[in-house]
Amino acid sequence: MHPRILVTGGAGFIGSNFILQRRREDSASIVNLDKLTYAGNLRSLESIAHDKGYEFVQGDIADRSLIASVLEKYRPVAVVHFAAESHVDRSIHGPEDFIHTNINGTFTLLEETRAYWMGLAEAECKHFRFLHVSTDEVYGSLGPDDPPFNETTPYAPNSPYAASKAASDHLVRAYHHTYGLPTLTTNCSNNYGPFQFPEKLIPLMILNARDGKPLPVYGDGNNVRDWLFVDDHCEALATVLRHGKPGETYNVGGWNEKPNIEIVQTICDLVDEMSPRVARSRREQITFVKDRPGHDRRYAMNTEKIERELGWKPKQTLESGLRRTVGWYLENEGWVQSVTSGSYRQWIAAHYST
Ligand code: NAD
Ligand code: DAU
Repeated sequence: MHPRILVTGGAGFIGSNFILQRRREDSASIVNLDKLTYAGNLRSLESIAHDKGYEFVQGDIADRSLIASVLEKYRPVAVVHFAAESHVDRSIHGPEDFIHTNINGTFTLLEETRAYWMGLAEAECKHFRFLHVSTDEVYGSLGPDDPPFNETTPYAPNSPYAASKAASDHLVRAYHHTYGLPTLTTNCSNNYGPFQFPEKLIPLMILNARDGKPLPVYGDGNNVRDWLFVDDHCEALATVLRHGKPGETYNVGGWNEKPNIEIVQTICDLVDEMSPRVARSRREQITFVKDRPGHDRRYAMNTEKIERELGWKPKQTLESGLRRTVGWYLENEGWVQSVTSGSYRQWIAAHYST
């Protein structure tokens, strides 16, 4: 059997795609620790739920004794840390959960991992890895002519979410620098693809377009994001885990900068094509709404380091990835129904009512 990896937050969007990909590609043995917040959904993993090489543990990364016992019981060779509160708008409405999970949770996980790692035999200790999955938002916002962020861009987080992720990145850095824990950090741009909770731009727009609902574009719609198909991100993570140098950080992105309005228009056209209706084009559902407070104008990632040093490159173009994603949401109504529960509907009603 393959050595075991502990994945945190594996019932969320990127974590579930990572687990499915690793089971498919190299039959990795995985234990998934997830609290199952509103964003965690085991239905995303039902195709592997009964596999011998996969186990699920429900729990909080800030629960010290639980983390210690999971590490002791499963004895992983690596931790891949996805668990986080991840939605910027929610961090503006209520930052507390972000401090709890992203900062205190990461701290607890690092502390317990350090204790476990120090108890390993020399060879295991040397090969152990702690991979921290982070975001481009820690670098702040770019002007229209600024060069993309690289690994030496100073941190300037603007939202409570970004600040909490920046704090977690600094803790990870300190655990390498001070204690020698073999950490790796990735900072990635906006992901999209199957199993993304429909509070985020792309799945929200696909489902609203399909259902004839307004498509709420913040501000003037010209905020720019750099989009990456989730499978490409997961491959980058597997590459960094295998070949990354402890203590290093790697930027990951798609070289796909687009203003939000163009993304929304493309989604409208794809939904019109795949779920035709005789009446109006879905583009007519676009409505410009009040901007997000402190809304970062532009993100862009320079990914030359991971390309040059580790040989990773994205495979999916934005066009092919968006087509796959729209198709997936239109074909997976059961999954959509299972995540758009009461709490989801309450968030949509409260957030978009003004
Ligand atoms: P998500 O919100 O879809 O999933 C987060 C998962 O973490 C959920 O399953 C949730 O139940 C779990 N979780 C939350 N709090 C927990 C806790 N205290 N203990 C254990 N589990 C907990 O997030 P995502 O979009 O899959 O993002 C995963 C990671 O990747 C995050 O760290 C995020 O910052 C980072 N990231 C996301 C993107 C993106 O575009 N989505 C881009 C770059 C980096
Ligand atoms: O850049 C990486 C980050 O990308 C990740 O770290 C975050 O976890 C992830 O949520 C994402 O953050 P964003 O704030 O960029 O993603 P979101 O999908 O919320 O919004 C994308 C853009 O679309 C942003 O400029 C805000 C805008 N938007 C979003 C929503 C939900 C709208 O115009 N209307 C909307 O209804």
